Amino acid sequence: MIFVSEIKCKKLKTDNLILNEFLDDAFNLKSHLMEFLSIKECDLDDFLDNAKINLANLHPGDALSEVSDFYTEIVGDRHVADLAAWHITSKDYIADTLKLQQKFSRDLVLDFGGGIGTHALANAMSSKVEHVFFVDINKTNRNFVEYRAKKLGVEKKLTFCKTIKDTKILKFDTIICLDVLEHLADPASQIEIFNEIMDSNTIALFNWYFYKGENNEYPFHIDDNQIVERFFKTLQLNFLEVFHPILITTRAYKKIK
Ligand SMILES: C[S@@+](CC[C@H](N)C(=O)[O-])C[C@H]1O[C@@H](n2cnc3c(N)ncnc32)[C@H](O)[C@@H]1O
Repeated sequence: MIFVSEIKCKKLKTDNLILNEFLDDAFNLKSHLMEFLSIKECDLDDFLDNAKINLANLHPGDALSEVSDFYTEIVGDRHVADLAAWHITSKDYIADTLKLQQKFSRDLVLDFGGGIGTHALANAMSSKVEHVFFVDINKTNRNFVEYRAKKLGVEKKLTFCKTIKDTKILKFDTIICLDVLEHLADPASQIEIFNEIMDSNTIALFNWYFYKGENNEYPFHIDDNQIVERFFKTLQLNFLEVFHPILITTRAYKKIK
């Protein structure tokens, strides 16, 4: 495998420039959406305004047998729409998550459940990062971010995979898993897998929202008490928190042993 340190990527930027480019236009997100999804400019605002409710309405509730089927079989491009609307309307929050990853990201980065690619693309633009493995179960998301990476000139620093196994990397230096754990059938097992691919210097960034919302706006979020309790026991047993002053809802961890 050839990494960028051997390739010399021309698109490397300072942390401040990356942040400002995100705050300006979310790395040209609207134009990427229009081109990738063939949406006319006059239809884009409606498309984004309705994205959250459209995604929630797609969820079949208890009729869904496998949690992951929602992302592989049902959402199609609706999750791209929902995530794009969120990253545009909550850009200060997303910018804080970018500041946080700028503090910790280095060398080989895994972005698990990378969505529309904001974090993976920002990491790929950073000189501290050698290569980013974007893992997402949703094929449309992977294709969209691959398209975006080419548009932004950072495609050589990214590899796109459906699973962590597909990356063929045994240890990562940084793991990013933001707003994903509540989408998994068993978040405890997922952080056990992360633990296996970390070494003593690896930092993992996790957050979670095990809540379906006041009015079931997030029917796809896991909120089962037993599942959540097993998650926190596993977290406390295997990970030590590393303090940072940037964003209290998102935590940095190293492995305990
Ligand atoms: C709410 S989005 C978060 C996206 C991104 N991390 C962010 O902060 O914007 C959750 C993402 O997790 C992905 N996902 C869900 N289940 C997954 C799984 N089992 N393996 C990998 N990705 C998964 C979805 O396709 C989706 O892109």
